[in-house]
Amino acid sequence: MRHIEPAPPKTNPKAFRAIVEGRRSVRKFTKDPVPDHVLDDCIDLALLAPNSSNLQPWEFVIIKTPELRAQIAEACMGQNAAKTAPILLVQIGRTATWNRNAQRIIEEWHEEAIPKQVDTYYNKLVQYHFTTGPLNILGLAKRVVKSAVGMVRPMPHSHYTQADIKVWAAKSCALACENFMLAARAHDYDTCPMEGFDETRLRQLVPMANDAFVVMVIAMGKRAENGVYYPRQRFDRQLMVREL
Ligand SMILES: Cc1cc2nc3c(=O)[nH]c(=O)nc-3n(C[C@H](O)[C@H](O)[C@H](O)COP(=O)(O)O)c2cc1C
Repeated sequence: MRHIEPAPPKTNPKAFRAIVEGRRSVRKFTKDPVPDHVLDDCIDLALLAPNSSNLQPWEFVIIKTPELRAQIAEACMGQNAAKTAPILLVQIGRTATWNRNAQRIIEEWHEEAIPKQVDTYYNKLVQYHFTTGPLNILGLAKRVVKSAVGMVRPMPHSHYTQADIKVWAAKSCALACENFMLAARAHDYDTCPMEGFDETRLRQLVPMANDAFVVMVIAMGKRAENGVYYPRQRFDRQLMVREL
């Protein structure tokens, strides 16, 4: 059956601009707690982020316990944002859940008859794209095939190494992080994304699977008066944007 989804009702671009412009990396938070319904909504919206092949290679670990937060703040190099925030979110990427999630998409498909192309995509193409084999041997073979065939016709993107899969997961995770931070701002709360952390120490504090890696730790709370350290600085648009 063809799925028809009408465009959503007209929204307010000015309100969106205010949210995007109002988001700053906040390094000092007040002691005000973040209500559960706000946090839940931000997580729900993070989970709606676009993600590669809808394979959702992410996990969100919410840290509320003060003792654990203090330890995680230490692992975040004692950064003020981490030390003062009432909520820390450890955002984790997964490089080995693609197969489980591909099967889940098939199992949880919204109608009984799975379209053939969906079935082929998740049962065959995804396997091809993500399998790299021991010591990346299959990845190497794929690279040889792609280089040869790619000379005569376009070849789809594939992953040749586990490092490629990590980059793949991190892209989708980063989009979810941005959804989370914008959602927080929409609720009048603020955030600070952090990659200044000691991953080895974080792994000791937050149980995670072997294939998991920490994409960001996000501090969240109410912005303290002196929470933003500097005015926003962005480079000239002409340096960064090209039109062809
Ligand atoms: C992936 C990533 C990692 C970051 N890591 C840190 C960090 O460890 N500590 C910190 O204070 N800010 C961190 N930031 C925030 C940036 O410094 C900040 O986004 C940048 O200076 C622009 O400022 P703005 O977010 O207020 O626009 C990080 C941002 C991103 C996207």
